Amino acid sequence: METAEARAIAQGFDPNRLSAGFYENPYNVYAALRDFEPVHRCPDGSYFLSRFADLDEIYRDRTHFSSDKKLVFGPKFGPGSPLYEHHTTSLVFNDAPYHTRVRRQIVGALSPNTLRALEPGVSALVDRLLEQLEERQRFDLIEHFAAAIPVEVIGNLLRVPREDRGPLRGWSLAILGALETELTAEQRSCGENAVVEFTAYLRGLIADRRRSPLGETDLLSRLLQEAELTESELLQNCVFLLNAGHETTTNLIGNGLYLLLSHPESAGRLRSDPQLIGTAIEECLRLESPNQLGNRLVTQRVTIGGVVLEPNTYLTLCIGAANRDDREFPDPERFDVARRPNRHLAFAAGAHACAGMGVARLEAQIALLRTVQRLPRLRLTGSASRARRARFRGFLSLPAEVT
Ligand code: HEM
Repeated sequence: METAEARAIAQGFDPNRLSAGFYENPYNVYAALRDFEPVHRCPDGSYFLSRFADLDEIYRDRTHFSSDKKLVFGPKFGPGSPLYEHHTTSLVFNDAPYHTRVRRQIVGALSPNTLRALEPGVSALVDRLLEQLEERQRFDLIEHFAAAIPVEVIGNLLRVPREDRGPLRGWSLAILGALETELTAEQRSCGENAVVEFTAYLRGLIADRRRSPLGETDLLSRLLQEAELTESELLQNCVFLLNAGHETTTNLIGNGLYLLLSHPESAGRLRSDPQLIGTAIEECLRLESPNQLGNRLVTQRVTIGGVVLEPNTYLTLCIGAANRDDREFPDPERFDVARRPNRHLAFAAGAHACAGMGVARLEAQIALLRTVQRLPRLRLTGSASRARRARFRGFLSLPAEVT
């Protein structure tokens, strides 16, 4: 892209008015922003940040930046609305001490022992799904594979009875969809209904668990032990956990499959050297980050990238852009399954760094390695369609076949 064109794109960027092309491929716009407007003032007065070093600094700094979203979500969702209740009560959009209390229980329940215990179940599930793909021959890698894994894993972690899991993905998509920068009336009402239905369902599950707690390793039982949580705090954090573990991991598996299938030499390398699966998943996380955007609110005057930011300024942190910053990653557009070091920000960093990253890595490593090993003749059959979303990057469908 010509310098003048890139500069104009960066200066005119408005995250509330994105083009159809942006949803397909935002990376040229991100590159222009990194080079010419790394701390870009948007028309609504918020700032959009795209350099790795700036994001890394902000994520690790709790003195100048807050995760509390009440100020922003009041006007967006309307105070008291189900979406407002949900998003302002979940730990991710709160600061200490409330955030610390809830996080402690979640991190405690997702210990290395819990992860080890999950592994045989995930492997068996992936093998079963791959067997079904072989039988079908033509299928959608999202519906029939990527989306089928996280719902089982997070459903097992919260011990949601299998027969109740049908609506979970729809609720999750609707609630997370309402976080998009541009929100239609339909997205809003789907989101509202999903919070109401989801919390109504969870009330029953929580009442059951109160009657029969399942011990230290059970996530829900641990949250129930946190005596200071109100009923609403408990419900909304369970909704968040089920959502957080869901769509992002589906997208990691879907994006990873797409990357490997469109780089057959990398899939071949992984097949002949399975030890590379760890670095390969980190590279998928970096290059096609499932969660592209994060947010923080400035609480104290601070200078970032030479720009003075005043208290109450709302920041959008573009993880997708930071993860392709050539100031941090050599040859950042290249898909390199052996890349080291790879200090990407796909799980953010600091006090709010993803509490489920071990679970997501486990699922993706098993899913992608088993797929390249077992289906060497898997190929895409065209017309992959992406969701029209800037925050959560993934495919709606990924038609494929085994020959
Ligand atoms: C590839 C999959 C995933 C990605 C890319 C991802 C990404 C993220 C990111 C970027 C954050 C930080 C948000 C912020 O502070 O602005 C986060 C937080 C969180 N994630 Fe994940 N996540 C994934 C999977 C999971 C899974 C599987 C779980 C649960 C089992 C989970 C649970 C959480 C929780 C509880 C938080 C809140 C942490 C806190 O606020 O202290 N995530 N995730």
